[in-house]
Order: sequence, then C-alpha cells, then structure tokens
Amino acid sequence: MHNKYLAMTPPMGWNSWNTFTWNINEELIMGAADALCTSGLKDKGYEYIVIDDCWSLKQRDEEGRLVADPEKFPHGMKYVADYVHSKGLKFGMYSCCGTHTCAGYPGSFEHEFVDAETFASWGVDYLKYDNCYKPKHINGEVLYKRMSLALRNCGRDIVLSACNWGHEDVHSWIQGSGAQLFRSTGDIQDNWQSVKNLFLSQIDKTAYSGPFCHNDIDMLIVGMHGSSNNEWIGELGACTDIEYRTHFALWAIMGSPLMIGCDIRNMTDAILETLGNEDLIRINQDIECRGPYCIRQWNNPESVLAMVKPLSDGTLAICFANLGDKRGEMSLQFWDLGIPYAANMGLEIYNCYTKENEGKFSERYVAVLEPHDSLTLIAKPVKLK
Ligand code: GAL
Repeated sequence: MHNKYLAMTPPMGWNSWNTFTWNINEELIMGAADALCTSGLKDKGYEYIVIDDCWSLKQRDEEGRLVADPEKFPHGMKYVADYVHSKGLKFGMYSCCGTHTCAGYPGSFEHEFVDAETFASWGVDYLKYDNCYKPKHINGEVLYKRMSLALRNCGRDIVLSACNWGHEDVHSWIQGSGAQLFRSTGDIQDNWQSVKNLFLSQIDKTAYSGPFCHNDIDMLIVGMHGSSNNEWIGELGACTDIEYRTHFALWAIMGSPLMIGCDIRNMTDAILETLGNEDLIRINQDIECRGPYCIRQWNNPESVLAMVKPLSDGTLAICFANLGDKRGEMSLQFWDLGIPYAANMGLEIYNCYTKENEGKFSERYVAVLEPHDSLTLIAKPVKLK
C-alpha cells in the first residue's frame, strides 16, 4: 500500500444503493459526482462516489473478467472513474465474497486477485464487498482476508469495505483481515425503527472500531423521504427531518462511515444542513477515532441516553438522544464524566445545532427532548471560578 493514511478516519461519500438499487447508470453516477461538488458537501469532507450492486453483466468475459453492463455504462467503468476523479473525488465499486452478488451478478469468489486487478485498472479507490451466495462450508473470515490481500497487492490503494452484516463475530477478526471498514448490521430501511434498532445493536461494540478499521452501521437514509425504488427499503414510510438529524448525529458519534444514500441531486435545505453539519462531521472525523460510551437517563434508561466521545483536543462530544415515543428529560451528571464539582470543575458547553456557546455549567446539564429528537454538544472541562 502506498497511502499509509488510507481510511484513517471513517470514509465519507455517497452510495447508489439506498435510493436507486438496480436502477443505475453512468448519467446518475456522474450526476451524483457533480452534485456532491455543487452542494458544497465535497468541501465538508465527502469524497467517495460508490456504485453498489447491479453494475455488471451476468456473465464474465472469456478471460474470466467482470464486464460493466454496456447499456448502463456505455463508455465503460474507466470513463466513469476518470470523470469522478476529474471532480477531485474518489471512485468506489461493489462486489461480493460469494459466487454471486445479492442481486445475482457474478461475485468474486475464487476470482479475488483477477477482480482486484480489474478494479485497479479502472481506477477504483474503494470496494464494498458483500456476503451473498457465500459457499456455506467456507468461513467468511478467510474470504475477506483473501480479498484484502488481493487489494493490498493490486498496485493501487483501494479501501476494503467489508459487508458481512455482522455475521461470524466480524468485530473479533476484522482488524486482522486488513479491511478498513466492516458492516456490523443488516440492511437499513428508511424508517425510525430501523435507525433505532441498528444503533442499539452496536451500542456495546464501540470498543471494536478505531483508526483504519471502522464499524459501519450501514449507509445513511438521511433525506430519502421515502424515495427508494426498493419497496423493502421504503417499508413503514420514511423519517421526519428531526429523525434524520438524530440518525446522522448517532452515526457521527459512533464513528460509522458517513455514506449518503439519498438523491443528492435533489436535497432540501434541512437535509443539506444535517448532512453538512461541520461540528457533527468533526466529531465523526476526530483523528483518534475513539468509540463513545453510553450514559443512560437514570429514571428512563431504555429511552433516553447520552453517547460521550472523548475528542483529541481534550473536549467531549456528547449526543443526547430520545429513542422513545414520549417527551423525555436527559440530565447528565458531570460526576459520571469524571468532572469533580468539589474541585471547582465544570463544563463549558457548545451546542452543535444552534452553533451557540451556552456558557459554563456546574454539576449537571439538563435537556428536554421531544420523541426521537437529539442534542449534540461539545463540552470543555473548565474551572468554574
Ligand atoms: C446487501 C447489502 C446492501 C446492498 C445490497 C445489494 O447485502 O447489505 O447494502 O449492497 O446487498 O444487493
């Protein structure tokens, strides 16, 4: 590998799957690259444009190589990659460790090295690597190790985004595989229940991700507003903008990759504000990539909680979230964070949503949260007097 900083912090970008699934083509991908730039999101740190499943023909060519579908990608993949690169962005693609992808296109099983070569020749910078049609008798661990080695030796820096949905205790072996991110969950759907379930499923796994190997809770549904062409993803019917903001804040503080899944060519101001919140992005991209710890509201622990993440500048990022369906209070006792009031210490609080400094607080900070709402703060330990 030539770039020793490859995916040091969680990758950020856009992926075609959540909204467009099988309905992809060159124009869409190039349009998404344009939109990432013109929306200002590129300047906020989003850099990968990733084509998910359904990009190839159903058969390899006579030499056993993958072939881009000429109807969807009439100029070939290198052309698309070159366009994405010309915008100062990076280009991602998708394959699978089994014999076929989930949508039934050829997978990379036993073609890992030749496929890595093909991806490198097209100018691919990121490979999402799925888990469908994996031969049952084969351990997934060895297949992800195999593709990782193939990519690390293909002559180009290519991030490996392992996507085995958290199976086979992936968190326990993924560091050793060399992959830069690992999907720890099943597929997200564009509804609040799904966001809540995926977040809670990883709340006790925050110690397993760190620089160069990030726990991927799945791609974002922020801004989809029920627009997926896949009924299953759209089931139960979308989120409110408040729920999308809570989703983004939780993914950010959990250190998950921030891969946008909405149609970025058509975003509302509220969605752009959420996806472009520089404070939440800074929390996600903190160079130490520490996992947050959880403090639950003492009298409402199932619904209201705070995630607390130490940042490299000595401050604490704190995200309060109300996962329940009733208004709830979160009172964070500074004692729980290691702040001794008796020694004249308190916290200076900055609000990442209003962008206001709220001043110094002693002993506790209390917020009332509407159902599914959140509040993200940056807190700096200070002397009170
Ligand atoms: C799933 C994967 C999704 C998407 C889909 C494509 O296995 O988790 O994120 O890539 O396959 O068929």
